[in-house]
Amino acid sequence: MKVCTVILAVGMVIGAVTGAAAADPGNGRCLGCHGKSDIVRRGGERLHLDAARYSATSHAYIGCVTCHDSVTPRHPDDGTRPSKARCRECHAPVQAEYAGSDHAGNATCNDCHNPHEVRPMVAVSGDEVNAKCARCHDMRKTVKSHDKWLPQADLHIEALPCITCHTGSKNYVITMVIEQRMKGAPHNDFRPATYDELTRLLPQGGDVSRLIDTDGDGTVSLRELRAFNHGAHRKGLRLWGMMTPEVVTHTYQILDNRWDCSFCHASGPRAMQTSYLAFPDRTGRYTRVAVEKGAILDILYGTPDFYMLGTTRSTTLNIIGGLIVAAGLMMPVGHGTFRFLTRKNRKGD
Ligand code: HEC
Ligand code: HEC
Ligand code: HEC
Ligand code: HEC
Ligand code: HEC
Ligand code: HEC
Ligand code: HEC
Repeated sequence: MKVCTVILAVGMVIGAVTGAAAADPGNGRCLGCHGKSDIVRRGGERLHLDAARYSATSHAYIGCVTCHDSVTPRHPDDGTRPSKARCRECHAPVQAEYAGSDHAGNATCNDCHNPHEVRPMVAVSGDEVNAKCARCHDMRKTVKSHDKWLPQADLHIEALPCITCHTGSKNYVITMVIEQRMKGAPHNDFRPATYDELTRLLPQGGDVSRLIDTDGDGTVSLRELRAFNHGAHRKGLRLWGMMTPEVVTHTYQILDNRWDCSFCHASGPRAMQTSYLAFPDRTGRYTRVAVEKGAILDILYGTPDFYMLGTTRSTTLNIIGGLIVAAGLMMPVGHGTFRFLTRKNRKGD
C-alpha cells in the first residue's frame, strides 16, 4: 500500500461525505464478478461480496483496488493472488489502542469486522454488537458466568451491548430500536424488526422513521413515543432500549467500576437524558433520530406500563428500577434483596 493511495482514498471519502461528486473508484468492474453469486462456484463463499452492503460502507469510497493494489488487468487468470491491505495502514490509532488492550491476543480486526461490510457505531444495533462477540463467546455461558454477581444477567445482556461494560467510553446514550415478536416463540421473545417489516407498517410509504416521528421534524417527542407505544403491543411490537457507548473505543478489559452497580444505576439519569431511535435501511444500516431530551426518564417515572428496557415485566419492579436509577440506592441494598425483589421476574422466565 503506497502512502499516496491512502491520502487519495481519504480525500475521496471526504469528498463524498461533503457531498461533492465522488468519482467511481472502480468497484463496478470487480463487483461484476465478486458481487454475483456464480463466483461461489469458482472458489467458494469467501469470494462473494454483498454488493449492496459494500456500497453502503466508507470503504466503498476507497475502492477495491486501494486495498487489493497488486491486482493485475489479467486477474483472475494471472496465477497471482491480489494483496490485501492491513487495517493498520489506515487505522493506526485504533490499531495502537487495541494492541494495548487485554483482548489484543484474542481476536484480530477481521474477526470482528468484515472489511466489505464495515459500519460505524451509530449505524449498528446493540444486538449486532453482541452478535459479534457471540461468534466466540457463547451467550449462555456468558449469562451464566455473569449471573454469579449480576442479578438478571440475561436482562442486563439484552439491555447492554458487551462493550458498554468491557470498553471505556466517557458518555453513554440510550439507543432504542423497534422490535418484533418472533413467530411461534415464547411470549417475550423479540428481535429487531427489519426494514421490510417496518415498511409494511407504513402503507402510505415514505421514510420508516415516520412510524414514530409522525410529524417528520427529525426529532421524536415524548408525545410521539407514547402514541407509537400505545398500539405497539397489539401489533406484536415493542421499543427496546440499550445503553450504548457514545463513542467506540477498542480498550477491551475488565473494568473494576462495572462491578459497581451505581455506575449505571446512579448515573443512569445522565445517560438517559440523551436517547435516540435507530431505524434500519434496506441494507440493515441504522440511522439515528434524536429523542426529546429526558423523554426516557419521563417514561421510567411517569408511565409504568411503557414497554421498554425490560422495565415492563412488572409494575413493582418498574418502580423499583426507577428508584434505583433515581436515587442510586444500589449500594445500601444488598444482592440478596435484589434477588428477592426480582424472583418473580426470574420465575416468569
Ligand atoms: C472475471 C471475473 C473477476 C473479476 C472482474 C475480478 N475477479 Fe477477483 N477473483 C475472481 C476469481 C475467479 C477468483 C478466484 C481465483 C483463484 O482462486 O484462483 C478471484 C479472487 C480474488 C481475490 C482473492 C485472492 C485470494 O486470496 O484467494 C481477490 C482479493 C480479488 N479477486 C480481488 C479482485 C479485485 C480487486 C477486482 C477488481 C479490480 C477483481 N477481483 C476482479 C474473479 C474475478
Ligand atoms: C478497506 C480495504 C478493502 C477494500 C476497500 C476491499 N477489500 Fe477485499 N479484502 C480486504 C481484506 C483485508 C481482506 C482479507 C479478509 C480476511 O482475511 O478476513 C479482503 C478479502 C477479499 C477477498 C477474498 C476473501 C477471502 O476471504 O479470501 C475478495 C475476493 C475481496 N476481498 C474482494 C474485494 C472486492 C471485489 C472489493 C471491492 C468491491 C474489495 N475486496 C474491497 C480489504 C478490502
Ligand atoms: C486504504 C485505507 C483503509 C484501509 C486499509 C482500511 N480502512 Fe477502514 N476506513 C477507511 C476510511 C477512510 C474510513 C472512513 C473514515 C474513518 O472512519 O476513519 C474507514 C472506516 C472504517 C470503519 C467505520 C465504518 C464507517 O463507515 O465509518 C471500520 C469499522 C473500518 N474502517 C474497519 C477497517 C478494518 C477492519 C480494516 C482492515 C480489514 C480497514 N478498515 C482497513 C480507510 C481504510
Ligand atoms: C472484539 C471485537 C473487535 C475487534 C477485535 C476490533 N473491533 Fe473495531 N469495532 C468493534 C465494534 C463492536 C465496533 C462498533 C461498530 C460495529 O459494531 O461495527 C467497532 C468499530 C470500529 C470502527 C468505527 C469506529 C466508530 O467511531 O464508529 C473502526 C474504524 C474500527 N472498529 C476499526 C478496527 C480496527 C482497525 C481493528 C483492529 C486493530 C478493530 N476495529 C478490531 C469491535 C471490534
Ligand atoms: C475471535 C474470537 C473472539 C471474538 C469475536 C471476541 N472475543 Fe473476547 N475473547 C476471546 C478469547 C479467546 C478470550 C480469552 C478466553 C476467555 O476469557 O474466554 C477472550 C476474552 C474476553 C474477555 C476477558 C478479558 C480478560 O481480561 O480476561 C472479555 C471481557 C471479552 N473477551 C470481551 C469481548 C467482547 C465485548 C467482544 C465483542 C465486541 C469479544 N470479546 C469478541 C475471543 C474473542
Ligand atoms: C454489566 C456489565 C457487564 C456486561 C453487560 C457484560 N460484562 Fe462481561 N464482565 C463484567 C465484569 C465486571 C466481569 C468480571 C467478573 C469476574 O471476573 O468474575 C466480566 C467478565 C467477563 C469475562 C471474563 C470472565 C468470564 O466470565 O468468562 C468475559 C469473557 C466477559 N465478561 C465477556 C462478556 C461478553 C461477551 C458480554 C456480552 C454478551 C459481557 N461480558 C457483558 C461486566 C459485564
Ligand atoms: C453498565 C450498566 C449497568 C451496570 C453496571 C448494572 N446494571 Fe442493572 N441494569 C442496567 C440496565 C440498562 C438495566 C435495564 C433497565 C431496566 O430494566 O430498568 C438494568 C436492570 C437491572 C435490574 C432490573 C430492573 C427491572 O426493572 O427489571 C436490576 C434488579 C439491576 N439492574 C440490578 C443491578 C445490580 C445489583 C448491579 C450490580 C451488581 C447492576 N444492576 C449493574 C444497567 C446496569
